[in-house]
Amino acid sequence: TRLRARGGRPFVYGHRGASKRAPENTLRAFALALDEGADGVELDVRLSRDGIVMVAHDPDLQRVAKRPERVADLDAATLRTIDAGGDTIPTLDDTLDLALARGALVNVELKGDVPDRLALARAVASLFARRRPSEREGLFVSSFRPEILVALRALRARVPLAFLFDPEHTGEVRGALLRRVTPSDGLHPHHTLCTPGAITRWHARGHFVNAWTVNAPERALALAAAGIDGLITDDPAGLVAALRR
Ligand code: G3P
Ligand code: MG
Repeated sequence: TRLRARGGRPFVYGHRGASKRAPENTLRAFALALDEGADGVELDVRLSRDGIVMVAHDPDLQRVAKRPERVADLDAATLRTIDAGGDTIPTLDDTLDLALARGALVNVELKGDVPDRLALARAVASLFARRRPSEREGLFVSSFRPEILVALRALRARVPLAFLFDPEHTGEVRGALLRRVTPSDGLHPHHTLCTPGAITRWHARGHFVNAWTVNAPERALALAAAGIDGLITDDPAGLVAALRR
């Protein structure tokens, strides 16, 4: 897969865009990440009331826009007018137009806390299906909920899938997740789980491995030395500079 670094420097992904210097999950943050030299962006998606795939991390708008409503209770037309810290809330389609036109990799994270996970998987799969195969090349999806990824596989979404997990997951949750992973899938562990031994083991099973959220240059360099495939960061400029040295 194109997502393996294979001995070169790891790919750098702007986490919610260049979220250190621009409002997270906005077109401005995605454009800035690419301007700063990121290879791609990570973004979070959930559905509007009228079933449009919107780019938003939290279930409600309190943190980004100081409004109490939930994303799932507003129509896309309304969401697109809301100021989320200096730019508006974009649709996934608008974001893909921007990022794929610039040749970027795009990690679409499907949020697991949505009212209807299958509806989200279906909407994302049909949005991808409407794009040309050449446009889909840099796209891949991730989720903390394995059943969302399994649903996308069943819907023949034909994009790489990456399983997210963090240190708070119990052994049982991790086991359920790992039973559903196939060798061509990716793993997106919290960076503290990415020991050199674990990275080697995951690569031996065939997976690509991207760590999040890595903001410290020293940590990025250690993970790069251990062979990590990608680093998801709030600060693409800082990591790109460190990895070039
Ligand atoms: O996809 C990596 C990371 O974004 C997962 O956590 O909460 O920032 O979406 P969160
Ligand atoms: Mg995310």
